Amino acid sequence: MNFSKTLIAWYLKNKRDLPWRNTSDPYQIWLSEIILQQTRVEQGLSYYYEFTQKFPDAQSLAGANLDEVLKLWQGLGYYSRARNLHEAARQIVNTHKGKFPEEYPDILALKGVGEYTAAAVASFAFNKPHAVIDGNVYRLLSRVFGIKTPIDSTAGKKEFRELADELLDRKAPGIYNQAIMEFGSQYCKPQNPDCNACTFSSICLAKQHKLVNELPVKALKTKVRDRYFQYLVIKHKNKIWLKQRTAKDIWQGLFDFPLIETGKIFSETELKKNPDWKKYFKGTDPLLTDEPVAYRHILSHQRIFATFWTIQVKMKTPDKSWVEINLGDIQEYALPRLVDRYLEEGGGDKE
Ligand code: ADE
Repeated sequence: MNFSKTLIAWYLKNKRDLPWRNTSDPYQIWLSEIILQQTRVEQGLSYYYEFTQKFPDAQSLAGANLDEVLKLWQGLGYYSRARNLHEAARQIVNTHKGKFPEEYPDILALKGVGEYTAAAVASFAFNKPHAVIDGNVYRLLSRVFGIKTPIDSTAGKKEFRELADELLDRKAPGIYNQAIMEFGSQYCKPQNPDCNACTFSSICLAKQHKLVNELPVKALKTKVRDRYFQYLVIKHKNKIWLKQRTAKDIWQGLFDFPLIETGKIFSETELKKNPDWKKYFKGTDPLLTDEPVAYRHILSHQRIFATFWTIQVKMKTPDKSWVEINLGDIQEYALPRLVDRYLEEGGGDKE
């Protein structure tokens, strides 16, 4: 059996009709790939439409305010991708006179573009022979070819790269790459793939050796850090206080509430004894108006245990970097998904 021909035949019969597959505009393809690194196709579609409508080309994206871009990205998480998107658009305008680069090394040099994205754009838009490798491809290749080398090891990366380059259909790299992504994500799924009906069932080594659930192998488990956020939802008459996150940390550039980060979940008594609390409120003993609301928010490498404390004050903001805004205007700011979840569930409306 010829792997690539079988794969492409499967794809032509089973592919989903997706907007970025009906264009050869590298800008739109690049946008779709950056969005799809962050979310699944179903959720990514609306972001893709909004971005391409508001910013139809690199010029308009480069000319936008970063805050506008972050706002449009809101909800996708991992905001450095949005900052990179904006920066890359400026590179296209400044370094490439507004024309999206065609060569793989030039695409790779764009901010936020890694080997996967560069291969995707080079092949989808320009039909250049660069094989894509992402999690879907690792899974499919490790299973069909029975490869147990860990995908996150140096040896594994090299082995999969060589195999991927060898399998690539050099006459139709764009379609081949779409096909391998589609098959990996839609058919050779992480859990319970339908191996009996699979187009590769006669050659799949994982199937033959009952290793489907064992592959691919990962050497290192990602470490997850626990963090504890005490969010101060401070209201002053009909105003609320926000703070832009400037530190090199999650959500850089976004707005959230004044925050005390602690080493564990806090009680009200513990909160009021905290030095930051005392510094901000200096013995004014502000009123905690509602029961605190707790959320657990999962990111790729962090678990955030957030408690939102609603506080009424009579004073002005004690810190120059805090902004006082009308409660009704809060959605004009780019907010982390965690804060948006809290607001959606009624947090912000309570007086
Ligand atoms: N995920 C990442 N890139 C994709 C693409 N081009 N089509 C479908 N899913 C994808």
